[in-house]
Amino acid sequence: MKEELKQLETEIEREIKSSQSGESLKKYLNKNSQLSLLFSKIKELDLKERVEAGMIINELKRRIIKAVGEKGQQKQLKKSDYFDITLPGQKPEVGHLHPLTQSISQARKIFEGMGFITVEGPEVEDEWHNFTALNFPKDHPAREMQDTLFIKGDRNLSERERKLMRTHTSPVQIRYMLDKKPPFRIIVPGRVFRNEATDASHEVNFYQMEGLMIDREVSAGNLKAIIEEFCHLFYQERVKIRLRPSFFPFTEPSFEVDVSCSTCQSRGCSVCSETGWVEIIGAGMVHPQVLINAKVDPKKWRGFAFGMGWDRIVMMKYKIDDIRLFYSGDLKFLNQF
Ligand code: FA5
Repeated sequence: MKEELKQLETEIEREIKSSQSGESLKKYLNKNSQLSLLFSKIKELDLKERVEAGMIINELKRRIIKAVGEKGQQKQLKKSDYFDITLPGQKPEVGHLHPLTQSISQARKIFEGMGFITVEGPEVEDEWHNFTALNFPKDHPAREMQDTLFIKGDRNLSERERKLMRTHTSPVQIRYMLDKKPPFRIIVPGRVFRNEATDASHEVNFYQMEGLMIDREVSAGNLKAIIEEFCHLFYQERVKIRLRPSFFPFTEPSFEVDVSCSTCQSRGCSVCSETGWVEIIGAGMVHPQVLINAKVDPKKWRGFAFGMGWDRIVMMKYKIDDIRLFYSGDLKFLNQF
């Protein structure tokens, strides 16, 4: 028995060394294996030999079981489970805010410094807030001025119920004035929608930033000063601004504010339509009828409003020559900000 066990031990040692997966070792654990056979015979030995042989057989079994476990585990570990700590790491992609959103935050800080608070309104608006309350005459072509996208629905609905995609941020003026008591100093950044042909400076979906200041004594001079101060702080350089007389049904007098085109240094390009100037803001003194519609007494309160074409303002800051880049989802463009 001693001799047989020694031979078996040598054989098993060899097998443990050479076995790849541990599978070939399992045969030593079978009921009919030589090891089990020897184990069944130890009862025939005298006590001392029985104890010795039992210890050897148990030790062999333990080693076989351990080797089967270890080799099986090694087989399961794929190459990808190992990593080489000396290899350079892969930099994780970190996202960031869109340039339009980043610059809205900058503008908010500038306006907060001048006492304005930020408010928001719905993108799906009703016809009354978007047009009627803002003094657009009923069935007047002025309502077509902004190429409205109407939401499909019953044509016979009232104008308070008829829904559209807001064409400007001005309806938020009405919502805010109806909700709060003057004086007011608000800005309203947000998305607006127009059914327009797109080009380097026109989009169907773009951003505006509305401004409204209502107080006892507010003049067009305050409007000009606030816009100039904003441009100075936002652009961090002196840009040229000009006010042109214009028309909006909700302001009187009305102005269009142009900024000198920084994309081409006013030499003429596709962004400024070769004029050297880009129209960035519509503005004016709030029409008394608008104040009445919003339940504000025009005999006590007056003020100005403006609507900035936000995309164009940001285009001038970073010298971006096509508004469509903002919405292209092109990471080569976006990663520059
Ligand atoms: C308005 O939308 C008025 N609500 C602005 C206003 C507010 C006037 C308060 C008076 C008082 P307008 O349609 O001009 O006005 O648009 C304002 C600005 O939005 C323009 O100066 C221009 O910079 C920008 N804009 C207009 N249409 C587009 C477009 N399709 N794509 C990109 N920007 C545009």
